[in-house]
Amino acid sequence: MHVHGTPTRTIWPLADCSGVEIIDQTRLPHRYELKRLATWQEAAEAIGVMRVRGAPLIGATAAYGLALAANADTGDAALHAVAASLIETRPTAVNLRWAVERMLAKLLPLAPTQRRDAAWAEAAAICDEDVAQNQAIGRHGLELIRAIRQRKGGTVNVMTHCNAGWLATVDWGTAIAPIYAAFDAGIAVDVWVSETRPRNQGAALTAWELNQHGVPHTVIADNAAGHLMQKGEVDLVIVGADRVAANGDVANKIGTYLKALAAHDNGVSFYVAVPGPTVDFRLASGAGIPIEQRSAREVTHITGRDPDGELAEVQLTPDGSPAANPAFDVTPARLVTGLITERGICKATKEGLAGLYPEQVK
Ligand code: MRU
Repeated sequence: MHVHGTPTRTIWPLADCSGVEIIDQTRLPHRYELKRLATWQEAAEAIGVMRVRGAPLIGATAAYGLALAANADTGDAALHAVAASLIETRPTAVNLRWAVERMLAKLLPLAPTQRRDAAWAEAAAICDEDVAQNQAIGRHGLELIRAIRQRKGGTVNVMTHCNAGWLATVDWGTAIAPIYAAFDAGIAVDVWVSETRPRNQGAALTAWELNQHGVPHTVIADNAAGHLMQKGEVDLVIVGADRVAANGDVANKIGTYLKALAAHDNGVSFYVAVPGPTVDFRLASGAGIPIEQRSAREVTHITGRDPDGELAEVQLTPDGSPAANPAFDVTPARLVTGLITERGICKATKEGLAGLYPEQVK
């Protein structure tokens, strides 16, 4: 996608493979800053504090983390240790484990002298595949939006949650890819962007990237979603996922489940855009998905831009009030209208997923 008119991905390697550059997403929307990661520890830190976030981008960053580790030590023990540390940084998004396991499967059979170049090539391949998958998700999701447009005419109102746009991936995004495809095809779309407390990925990141592309949108408080659906102001909900179990249960940003409940009650279609690496065929149901518990400080404090243009953090809650911060929830498959994948759209069921990914089913 474009930042200030320049084609940009969320992560890219330096030409000499001495590091990678990322967009520091903790600074958006008020500052657009790049950050260089030169060691695997810096890659792990960037994932942990959410300079990079979103399931596919976490996976891509972990892959480059292993490439950075291979710059220093290509031995089996070192790679295994780095892989274990990277997997621990964020537990819910399965793309992280997927990318790390793919890197190890590629590197360990090779002679140690061949591993460094292979690691950089494999991480780049993971990134390129992510971009292609997201473009395909965009094409399939576009047809859903086009069908709504043909049925009702006028503007198609899409609601999304968190940020599953290009900032959450290497490029294009998952849930937002169909919206970009529709917008670029000349279909009038308007996006309800829920702020996504406590980290505000909707208000800060989705709003920022939609602005960059010129897509009409409105930021809402998370609590407004049900009301808008009840009033008929939402034609379609599309969200992303951090992990989809083999039965179609969906783990995504906290608050997704409430949107699915409201959509179900109001007869609004609720789609989840999900690339293959986000489906965990090893897990029978969503009950087994680990839910990341993040710092209470993300709930008790908030960062924004003060009147002088400086970033400032303020406290929201009284001194002494404890806060809890489960970062994801699980939406049961029965509330999901369908999964938009790079291979097409399927029901959120074991059979639906098996039909699109037969090679994953034993
Ligand atoms: O905590 P985050 O910002 O990493 O959570 C991101 C989400 O929940 C996204 O919806 C999900 O990763 C899909 S990204 C294409």
